[in-house]
Amino acid sequence: MAVRSKSSAAWLNEHVHDPYVQMAQKDGYRARAAYKLLEINDKDRLLKPGTVVADLGSAPGSWSQIAAQLVGAQGRVFALDILPMAPLAGVDFIRGDFREDAVLAEFENLLGGRSLDLVICDMAPNMSGNAVTDQARSFYLAELALDFAAQHLKTGGDFLVKVFQGAGYQEYTAAMKTVFAQVQVRKPKASRNRSSEVYLLGRNKR
Ligand SMILES: C[S@@+](CC[C@H](N)C(=O)[O-])C[C@H]1O[C@@H](n2cnc3c(N)ncnc32)[C@H](O)[C@@H]1O
Repeated sequence: MAVRSKSSAAWLNEHVHDPYVQMAQKDGYRARAAYKLLEINDKDRLLKPGTVVADLGSAPGSWSQIAAQLVGAQGRVFALDILPMAPLAGVDFIRGDFREDAVLAEFENLLGGRSLDLVICDMAPNMSGNAVTDQARSFYLAELALDFAAQHLKTGGDFLVKVFQGAGYQEYTAAMKTVFAQVQVRKPKASRNRSSEVYLLGRNKR
């Protein structure tokens, strides 16, 4: 039998006792991340009936679940992840690595020339443990997502993206300001305080 390390035992203990994990199980969401999007959406009203949205880094699917519920039959949800995602009603999903041109082309094909109202990106790389590498990989994904948003959002569209404060944060915020009329920072309660994770919200694409 595998012996758990102290840190993975501590993680498991925290996970099991995490109120958001318990709520997600009760409410039928696939991940505790659901409550981050719900809190941001309560404040910022990003998802409405009819919204056409792309969800980048969607697995296991709690953001897509919420998006599909809120955009309804008039809206569309296009989702992508490098990992598999169990099907969800109202969500068109592609499995692939967003860094690959062929995957991007396939996703663009799925959009079928539609302009998007909203891009949400919760992508995070597998953490190597090397903080410098992890930060750089994370911002690379966020930069690709920003390029995608700049290209596919309609004028006036919105972009929500997970980033980690630290190296590259100021430059990234500055780049977002060239694309969006407003850039705001969101730290929902379900995002752990000890994590440098925040969400940047670009509003009103120029
Ligand atoms: C925090 S999880 C997303 C959780 C999701 N928002 C939810 O509510 O279920 C981050 C996701 O980013 C995905 N990801 C990381 N690198 C990726 C890449 N290069 N291309 C596509 N997805 C990627 C991971 O596979 C993982 O599923």
